[in-house]
Amino acid sequence: MDPHGRRRRAHHRVAGEAAGLSRGVGVLPGQCGGRRVRGAGDAGGVPDQCAARRRRARDHPEPVRTRVEAVLGAHRLSLSHQGPDGPVAAVRDVSFEVAAGEIVALVGRSGSGKTSLLMALGLLATPGAGTVLVEGRDTAGLADAELSALRRDRIGFVFQAFNLLPQFTAQENVAMAHRSGLRGGAERAARLLGEVGLGHRLRHRPQQLSAGEQQRVAVARALVNAPAVVLADEPTGNLDAETESDVLDVLTTGAAGSGCAVLLVTHSAGVASRAGRVLRMADGLCAEDPEHDAPRKATP
Ligand SMILES: Nc1ncnc2c1ncn2[C@@H]1O[C@H](COP(=O)(O)OP(=O)(O)O)[C@@H](O)[C@H]1O
Ligand SMILES: [Mg+2]
Repeated sequence: MDPHGRRRRAHHRVAGEAAGLSRGVGVLPGQCGGRRVRGAGDAGGVPDQCAARRRRARDHPEPVRTRVEAVLGAHRLSLSHQGPDGPVAAVRDVSFEVAAGEIVALVGRSGSGKTSLLMALGLLATPGAGTVLVEGRDTAGLADAELSALRRDRIGFVFQAFNLLPQFTAQENVAMAHRSGLRGGAERAARLLGEVGLGHRLRHRPQQLSAGEQQRVAVARALVNAPAVVLADEPTGNLDAETESDVLDVLTTGAAGSGCAVLLVTHSAGVASRAGRVLRMADGLCAEDPEHDAPRKATP
């Protein structure tokens, strides 16, 4: 058995799930920001996810607990990438919690570690230290199958580059992320696409959609399994103000409808002002922004 081959296949499986794929559908090269997944965690390029997880389980023998209502928790989370000149500490000892229904904006300059943090929170990159809690459940030490199920069922991920599969229609892109697969998810996909204003574009492929429309498909895909939390990496980047507002409405109302929390990376002051809380990253560190004084919950 070739351990590297096995590890590489595991990596692609994660990438496929991240792109919203169900079992049995292949992953296209470059579909899922491979740079980030590959670089995350360990020094060897492709991360040894199992070894890193075992290490974390050893470092955290007692289960870490969040507040009962927290759907997402970061506990002393650190993540390094291997760069050409040595390791880059992208996330450094970050702890916070997100409660059900909350909308939290994650802001900070380019390179401050926002995407790296989101990848760790989305269980797409194994942290070098610390742990992620999903609905109070400590994910350190979970087996691959359990992590996959959590990623698919409880976490919706909106990638900055959409990561839609070009050979599939809008409806198929959303449906194949459904827990019951392409056929089982078709009806829900059509309904969600209708809710994001794309009921007339179900059969369009990504290249037949505008950037804003593709972003809305990606949002619908993130919501398809009614997750506990949606993690969105600059979901309104590259959009005009009107489309930005539309996408945000879809994300927040779609999520709020099911009590889902939203953590979104943004550079837009307008987007941040609609969040209940703002977390600011600088040089891998993350802190609550005390100047943000417009707390608002997604759910009444
Ligand atoms: N795969 C990688 N290999 C090496 N360094 C990386 C990799 N990915 C990100 N980095 C570095 O980690 C830091 C944080 O990056 P990132 O999380 O993408 O920041 P942000 O999303 O805030 O722009 C940056 O200094 C970046 O150069
Ligand atoms: Mg980024």
